[in-house]
Amino acid sequence: MDFKLTEEQQMIQDTARDFARSTIAPVAAEFDASGEFPLENIRKMGELGLMGIEVPDGYGGAGLDTIGYVLAMIEVCAADAAHGTIMSVNNSLFCNGILKYGSEEQKQKYVRAIATGAEIGAYALTEPQSGSDASTMKSRAVLSDDGTHYLINARKSWITSGPYARYLVLFASTDPEAGARGITAFLIDTERDGFHRGKTEPKLGIRASATCEVELTDYRCPVEDRLGKEGEGFKIAMSVLDAGRIGIAAQAVGIAQAAYEASIAYARERKAFGREIGTFQMIQAKIADMKTRLEAARLLTLRAAWAKMESERTGARITVDGSMAKLFASEAAMWIAHQAVQLHGGMGYSKEMPVERYFRDAKITEIYEGTSEIQRMVIARSETGLR
Ligand code: CAA
Repeated sequence: MDFKLTEEQQMIQDTARDFARSTIAPVAAEFDASGEFPLENIRKMGELGLMGIEVPDGYGGAGLDTIGYVLAMIEVCAADAAHGTIMSVNNSLFCNGILKYGSEEQKQKYVRAIATGAEIGAYALTEPQSGSDASTMKSRAVLSDDGTHYLINARKSWITSGPYARYLVLFASTDPEAGARGITAFLIDTERDGFHRGKTEPKLGIRASATCEVELTDYRCPVEDRLGKEGEGFKIAMSVLDAGRIGIAAQAVGIAQAAYEASIAYARERKAFGREIGTFQMIQAKIADMKTRLEAARLLTLRAAWAKMESERTGARITVDGSMAKLFASEAAMWIAHQAVQLHGGMGYSKEMPVERYFRDAKITEIYEGTSEIQRMVIARSETGLR
């Protein structure tokens, strides 16, 4: 076992860290307060190769590996989780499925635009009445008699980056009787007729990452914009989430790291009863537990990234690796951010310090791309073979 990073991994980590500290961290609180989408920063991140880290350079990406992606996500999310959310959707939820299941034309057109950060991508699975039970979707796609296009009628909710997305990977049923096996994936251009955006969601955290409902009414999707085969959509959705969850685990590690570092600084500087609070055993216990959970989360996340890289060679499923990393890292981030607020006392509750933002941002990592309950179900089903 070798824990050393390669030169490329170190390079992308440094690039992400420099940009995150110099450009994102100073404005993170402002974007959180206003809820404004940080479009200019996202474009700059695209120029640095941060929007398509694992995408081959032939399709506009940085051509690096999943460990590089995880390291960069940690750095960006330690500065601002909302920037990290947008980054994760472009990198992972949008590009991964097309790289794996798309045609050469789809890769050139759609992946290139999103991996360079020239456009924003989104992933549309969830519907108002179907979240965790994703296969019960009501959105429908019907192939035209002449076989040239699908007519799509769909309503999707909680679409991350939806208000700014140019392209979406969207899932709809082409055969409702077939359940999960009747779902098909489509590439949607939001500039075509029949695409509408709904209201933007006001959110507890990751406030600068815009989220909205989208609706497609009689949207004509050319047959060449179908991703994969008919009926293959649920498998595509799930395998994209397998990889996506590694990115959310990295996001959680980034938030936890920021909360931990703020706590160390405060424990050294803040005095009570005539001494630094870091000298009190109850604070020391918190610090020791925060650090241990943080490093355990980081290791599990990097291990899942390594498993994904291996799977590209072996074809093995990485579902449990991604679920365990996301489950553990998201709960560690929530716990560490909670301890950080407590350790900061009144200042932890104040908008003058960033820890209350870490606390609000950490919560989403336990919810999106599959709740902690879903991750536990996925892991247990796989371990026992029972359903
Ligand atoms: N990879 C490949 N295939 C998979 C798979 C995977 N990870 N998981 C399931 N499948 C296949 C199964 O093998 C099965 O195929 P067959 O019919 O050929 O046997 C088929 O898909 C159906 O599988 P299940 O019977 O297990 O499906 P289910 O209905 O019981 O659902 C579930 C399983 C794990 C609960 C799944 O629905 C799930 O993960 N739900 C959570 C959805 C989720 O994460 N939503 C988040 C929305 S996206 C988001 O949050 C993005 C954002 O905004 C940032």
